[in-house]
Amino acid sequence: MEMKYFPAVDINDAPQKGVKKVTLTYTGDSGKEEAIIFLAALPQGLTAFSSVCSHLGCIVDWDSQKEEFVCPCHGGRYDINGNVIGGPPPAPLDNLPIETRDGKIFVGIKV
Ligand code: FES
Repeated sequence: MEMKYFPAVDINDAPQKGVKKVTLTYTGDSGKEEAIIFLAALPQGLTAFSSVCSHLGCIVDWDSQKEEFVCPCHGGRYDINGNVIGGPPPAPLDNLPIETRDGKIFVGIKV
């Protein structure tokens, strides 16, 4: 697995508040692949999170009403900073690296 950067959104489409779910599409070993990531507008700046739950690897979703990430598998919950606030996850959501290039936000994922 190596870290590769893929375009997520135009800079103008980056969230100004809250969290935006983005599907990265790329060509991997087995053809076209997708990875869901989240961009969060945090006080310290735009932050990208992996959607992979740290418990058993299910894909979490962002609940904009409760303002938390929720895992459908065993009820894991994370706050907007990716920190665990409930359920079995043993660790926060992974932070992903961000780069700005050519007017776009690129996010690094391991592929
Ligand atoms: Fe997410 Fe178990 S895989 S709570």
